[in-house]
Amino acid sequence: MKTIIAPSLLAADFGNLERDCKMINSSSADWFHIDVMDGVFVPNISFGMPVLKSIAEHAKKPLDVHLMIVNPERYIESFAALGSSILTVHYEASTHLHRTLQSIKTKDMKAGVALNPHTAVDLLEPIINEIDLVCLMSVNPGFGGQSFIESTYEKVERLSNIIKKAGASTLIEIDGGVTNKNARQLIECGADVLVAGSYVFSSENQLEAISGLKEMK
Ligand code: DX5
Ligand code: ZN
Repeated sequence: MKTIIAPSLLAADFGNLERDCKMINSSSADWFHIDVMDGVFVPNISFGMPVLKSIAEHAKKPLDVHLMIVNPERYIESFAALGSSILTVHYEASTHLHRTLQSIKTKDMKAGVALNPHTAVDLLEPIINEIDLVCLMSVNPGFGGQSFIESTYEKVERLSNIIKKAGASTLIEIDGGVTNKNARQLIECGADVLVAGSYVFSSENQLEAISGLKEMK
């Protein structure tokens, strides 16, 4: 399977969101990665429903919504109504994770679980068959433009083994500090989806930055 590329709109120019959405539409990217932060689970506030609504109006590719919020189960219906295809909640923010995953799937979305850098992938083993996507945070969540945490490679390999052992079809997504420098090794370790924010949007040629990641083998 070719690697799925999901540019993160957190690094887009919010004054020109329509332009940046169109750039992603015309690129070889597969998904839009949307970071929602509440200022409680993470020490930053990004944007909420009205901005997501505008993005959804322009985006012609699936919306991969990453919730960095406490009690994410409160908003499952709202994110479904806004057209999210994948809804990812944080392990660390979900007391009843299994129930939350079921609720997400009931609303016809793919269910994702994100893990902070310190959270062990082994914790997901009992419910791996219920998870469509695991988002491994390769930076501490809350901000774009941070440096990639090297211990992520080992986590990808470990998680890949858990998924294979269970015969599950869970995708492994890497989020934070992804560039053309670490993409190849991540793919070799078993990553299926690469999120890239500042690497894509700070590139002089954004379309080429995306296709470079897409064609990486
Ligand atoms: C960080 C977010 C990321 C962020 C990645 O909390 O979850 O999606 O946008 O940005 P870069 O690629 O700049 O690290
Ligand atoms: Zn994210």
